Amino acid sequence: MKTKIKNVIKKIPGVFYIRDKIKFLDFNSDKVFFLKNYMYSNVITKEKIEYEMILEIHKLEKGFAVVNPRPFGIDKVKKIINCIRKYENNNFKSGFAYNLAYSSLEEYKKFYEEKEWTETEQYKLVSDFMNNAKEYIYIPVGAYDLNKSDFIEDSKIDFDKFLSSRKSIRNFADKKLEAEDITKAVNTAIKSPSACNRQMCKVYYIDNVDNKKVVEKYAQGLGLFDLTNANYFVITFDVAANYFVGERNQGWFNAGLFSMNFVNALHSLGIGSCFIQFGNSFKEEEEFKKLLNIPSSERVAVIITAGYYDEVSRIPYSTRKDISEIYRVR
Ligand SMILES: Cc1cc2nc3c(=O)[nH]c(=O)nc-3n(C[C@H](O)[C@H](O)[C@H](O)COP(=O)(O)O)c2cc1C
Repeated sequence: MKTKIKNVIKKIPGVFYIRDKIKFLDFNSDKVFFLKNYMYSNVITKEKIEYEMILEIHKLEKGFAVVNPRPFGIDKVKKIINCIRKYENNNFKSGFAYNLAYSSLEEYKKFYEEKEWTETEQYKLVSDFMNNAKEYIYIPVGAYDLNKSDFIEDSKIDFDKFLSSRKSIRNFADKKLEAEDITKAVNTAIKSPSACNRQMCKVYYIDNVDNKKVVEKYAQGLGLFDLTNANYFVITFDVAANYFVGERNQGWFNAGLFSMNFVNALHSLGIGSCFIQFGNSFKEEEEFKKLLNIPSSERVAVIITAGYYDEVSRIPYSTRKDISEIYRVR
């Protein structure tokens, strides 16, 4: 009966066109979502102020790294002070970005004193503000020198061999993931670069049985998996970190970098994994986030299945293209 109805519907002129039009409405949902949640959208949230702080701190930090610096950063320190005030007026609980914001002003003041730029407007502004600073924890900020020999020493591994030994894994050993290994892998992934150091990605380890079922229901690419010992991670990014329309795809890119490092870190710990694309509709993504209690301003970038390597893993060849097909010189 169902097939009969489907066949009748298929014959209606324009039905596919309308179906595709409806599906493509998700692009509009992306736009509406971005405008509702990005850094300068109407509602003030703790996260938005924190991302703004980190953004401005990062711009300021680059001033510390200039070889022959001149007085710099007046706009940035004004914005940082403004963010701290907003944060305190809203009584948000102090966290990393807040401590970093105060630390950056402390470092800025010190730097200006060392350079004897104490007559400048920005020095006086920061100095006055810091006289009434609330309690904060100092976090290293500014710039430092790293020797070439350190780079060379610390990067001495056979990187190609390591990367070539990672494969997408679709069956896993019967062993629960150790919390210590997960922490290690996340700590490695945290070292991934991110736009203006905003660190907009989050990792959700799906440990609860019901939540695992949610992942299995929504993930579309689990078809060929042996899910018996599968563990799941969901990688998201927060649109609150993005500050203008040019950053509309920033989160996806940052999540890609983050996820790749996470997966490689898992691999270094004897944990195999496979990305599972989140090819769901916008509506499904909203449902998924609700069920897993993921904050509303985050987007789901990808799901990762993982588990310790089993004695044998069956691997599709996934042969790569020849370099001549992908490398161009212009
Ligand atoms: C973003 C992304 C999404 C993927 N989604 C799926 C998926 O849904 N199901 C699956 O079995 N594999 C998935 N994969 C794994 C790819 O098929 C695999 O990475 C590719 O064939 C290369 O193989 P390798 O990872 O073993 O080198 C995905 C990979 C990426 C990077």
